[in-house]
Amino acid sequence: MNLEQFHKLIRNRLNHKFDNNEVEEFFFRLIDYYCQIDKIKYIINSKLELKKKDEINLINSLDLLENESPIQYVIGQSQFMAMTFLVNHHVLIPRPETEELVRWIVQDLHSNKRVLDIGTGSGCIATSLSKLMDNCIVHGWDISSNALDIASKNSKNNSVNVKYDLVDITNEKQCSEKFDIIVSNPPYVTQDDKLLMSKNVISYEPHIALFVKENDPLFFYKKILNFSKKNLISNGTIYFEINENFSKQVNKLLKKEGFHDIIVRKDFRGKYRMVKATKK
Ligand SMILES: C[S@@+](CC[C@H](N)C(=O)[O-])C[C@H]1O[C@@H](n2cnc3c(N)ncnc32)[C@H](O)[C@@H]1O
Repeated sequence: MNLEQFHKLIRNRLNHKFDNNEVEEFFFRLIDYYCQIDKIKYIINSKLELKKKDEINLINSLDLLENESPIQYVIGQSQFMAMTFLVNHHVLIPRPETEELVRWIVQDLHSNKRVLDIGTGSGCIATSLSKLMDNCIVHGWDISSNALDIASKNSKNNSVNVKYDLVDITNEKQCSEKFDIIVSNPPYVTQDDKLLMSKNVISYEPHIALFVKENDPLFFYKKILNFSKKNLISNGTIYFEINENFSKQVNKLLKKEGFHDIIVRKDFRGKYRMVKATKK
C-alpha cells in the first residue's frame, strides 16, 4: 500500500464518524508519527510505498480510531505547552484549557518557589511549570502509581526534575512541607455530567481522573483547601482548574476558607474554567 492509498482508506473508514478536518488531522498525525512524513513530503511523494511494519501500525491505528479511541492514546503521546508528553489509559489527555492555567501561573512570574501540583496525572502541569519558571522546586502528587510512572518519564524526557509522590489527598495527609503555590486540576465531573459526555472520553480516559465519587463537584476543592490550611504559606497562591458550572460555588468556598484576591477566568471558549486566590 502506498501513502495515497492509505489516505483513501482512512477517509473511507472514518468519514461517517468524524468530520473531514478531523480525518485529515488523524491521517497527517499518523504518517508523521509512524513514517516521519510531514504534509510537504506527502504532497511531493504521495505514491511512496509504505514499509510493511508502518503499514501494520497504520492499519492497527485506524482500527482503534474507528472504535473512537482518542488519537493521543493511539500514538501514545500528546502535545502540551509545545512539549511532548507520553500518555496511556492511566492518565488524562492534557487539555488546551489546562495550558491556559499553566500560562496564567507562568505569566505571574513566580521564581524561587515551592510548588505542589495535586492530581498530577501525566505530569503536564508540574513538568511545564518546572520548565518555564525560574528556580522552582516542583512536586507532583497523585493517587495512581501508574500515572506517576508516566509523569516521571515525562519530566525526564523534557529534562526537568519534579519530585513525584503517591498521595491520596482525601487522606488528610500529615506533611511538614510548606508550599508557596498549590495548583490542581482535580476530578470534577459529576455523575450527572457523565450523561452528557462523549463516548471517546468515557470509554477511554481514566474514571479516577474525571469523576468525583460523592457526586459533590466541590469534593476535591474542599480537601485541597483543607490541606492548604497548614501547608500553603500565608500569602501563598492557589490555582485551580474548575468545572464551568460551579465557578460561583468554588469562589464562595474560597471566600469561606479565608482566601482573598479571588480571580475567576474564562478559557478560550468563553467559559469560566480557572481560578486563582491568595491565602491570608
Ligand atoms: C483531571 S486529572 C488531571 C491530570 C493532570 N493534572 C492534567 O491536568 O491533565 C485528575 C488527577 O487526579 C488524580 N486523583 C484522583 N483522585 C485523587 C486523590 N484522592 N488524591 C490524589 N490524586 C487523585 C487522578 O489520578 C488524576 O491523575
